[in-house]
Amino acid sequence: MKEMARKIIVANWKMHPASAKEANRLFKEYRKLGASTAADMVVCPPSLYLALAGKGLKLGVQNIATEEVFGQTGEISSTMAKSIGATYVIIGHSERRRAQKETDELINQKVLAALQARLRVILCVGESSQVRAKGFSAAKSYVEAQLAADLKNVPEGSALIIAYEPIWAIGSGTADNPAEAAAMASAITAASGYRVIYGGSVTSQNARDFLQYKEIYGALVGGASLKAGEFKKIINLVTK
Ligand code: PGA
Repeated sequence: MKEMARKIIVANWKMHPASAKEANRLFKEYRKLGASTAADMVVCPPSLYLALAGKGLKLGVQNIATEEVFGQTGEISSTMAKSIGATYVIIGHSERRRAQKETDELINQKVLAALQARLRVILCVGESSQVRAKGFSAAKSYVEAQLAADLKNVPEGSALIIAYEPIWAIGSGTADNPAEAAAMASAITAASGYRVIYGGSVTSQNARDFLQYKEIYGALVGGASLKAGEFKKIINLVTK
């Protein structure tokens, strides 16, 4: 295969692992991968585990509050995230859009707040299976509308990348068709000016199929990021 341009691989641990002991073990495995030079590797564990990460890992949080105010029980501010070593934040993941009922308006506020605090934003967009059933161009229009709303008032050239994650591909074992994901990535970059990573059932088996496209700047990896051996194989694809 041709030499790949520098890529970014983001691990989204979601609400895993179930214990601090397991998190310690996983961080230890990740730290062994941390020295790679050809790829940026970012780990987004549950915030509760950030303090266990140790040295040498680029860290992100999976959500952030919109405001730095005291009266928000259960929320975590950008300042707190930064103080514990996080430099990235995932915003607008479809699981939060669905379960926490996050609207585009709220997501836009979070993007603005995170950028203001100088966190790097990984903004997730993507269509449902119902939208995709209407065809690629319906999906493209849907994603473009999300981008317009989520990026409102965001200054051009902000520290932000877009994760294209078709909802039906997340955790389903059925990844998008890589050529179509690349076409969507290219449409997203045309609409927004930002680089695009792909997420949705990325494994060590299929990662290369996505990462070989220059339009696809990296991957957002959920399930496969919890198995250190599996994640290592994905990182190795972009570090060789
Ligand atoms: P998955 O999750 O790799 O388990 O499909 C990706 C994501 O939701 O970010």
